[in-house]
Amino acid sequence: MMNFASDNVYGVHPVIMDAIIAANQGTADSYAGDKITARVEARFNELFERKVDVFLVTTGTAANALAISTMTPPFGAVFAHSHAHVMLDECGAPEFFSGGAKMMPLAGVNGKISPQMVATAMAGFIRGEHDPKPSAISITQASELGTIYSLDEIAAFGDFASQNGLKLHMDGARFANALVGLGCTAAEMSWKAGVDVLSFGITKNGAMGVEAVVFFDGDLAADFVHRRMRAGQLLSKNRFLAAQVEAYLQDDLWLDNAATANRLAAKLADGLEKNGNVRLALECEANEVFAIIPKAMSAYLEESGAVFHPWIASKDDMQHAGADETVIRLVTSFATAETDIDQFVSLVQSA
Ligand SMILES: Cc1ncc(COP(=O)(O)O)c(C=O)c1O
Repeated sequence: MMNFASDNVYGVHPVIMDAIIAANQGTADSYAGDKITARVEARFNELFERKVDVFLVTTGTAANALAISTMTPPFGAVFAHSHAHVMLDECGAPEFFSGGAKMMPLAGVNGKISPQMVATAMAGFIRGEHDPKPSAISITQASELGTIYSLDEIAAFGDFASQNGLKLHMDGARFANALVGLGCTAAEMSWKAGVDVLSFGITKNGAMGVEAVVFFDGDLAADFVHRRMRAGQLLSKNRFLAAQVEAYLQDDLWLDNAATANRLAAKLADGLEKNGNVRLALECEANEVFAIIPKAMSAYLEESGAVFHPWIASKDDMQHAGADETVIRLVTSFATAETDIDQFVSLVQSA
């Protein structure tokens, strides 16, 4: 297949599919009143080593936009990387669901931003009520460029946010890949470092379509049931979302899946680096590889059946790719075949 377009081009992990089928027995209370949902809520408390408020939705866009809507007033400012999913890929959903909050783009290298960048942007807010009110920061873990914020880096955001009256959101569409990359606990990578609300990604790492919005700040969760309902994100047959999550978190399936994806990405990066015509734009820290390759090689790889996307980021991030070069993004998943990596690397060698 050699399909490296995204981790969401793959299907559903068989264990999760079996769980959906197993949930398809008899009747169950609707609108999240079912027993599987209750078990999943308890499981999240265990996973995060404290009481959390958790709500299931169907997409990462819904998770992010609804999470952010609890963290800012309509006249607020939310800071995020200029290439963040919340900034570029959600058709203004965070602005829409927050009732008009202003998303403030920050240009950081390696797909990451820093508290200093937020501070600098806030220092430009000198026009009193003419400016939006700084309200929240959203960071992506792992980032859109496959890089990972260290625990210290997240904690620096947590400290900055609490000192400045801001809330901290984490877009964890690839939370598991980052967690495995850092080798820490879910608690350490979230609330212990100051995250207030987490979009806990599940779909990319093996589910059919479910994400969890996890609140570590109970006040922010207070009206979330209404927000979810109004957004059309409360499923009457919620048991099928919950069944996916239950299977995902059982027996470390989620961590195993992420470890597989990360290992394959590292293997791919190693293989590519050995070729004199290929440079890595960024270090591979999770399950994405960004490689700078000659345009002719890119065409050859595509003609040979490989699927991937060209990627555009800042010139700094792309190591100033030359006119005859292109940057490509290669994403691995829990279901990527090891032979696809071998085949792709040998194609690169023969290009
Ligand atoms: C960083 C990030 N956040 C969120 C999402 C969620 O997107 P979707 O609405 O397609 O589930 C994605 C998917 O590409 C992503 O890469």
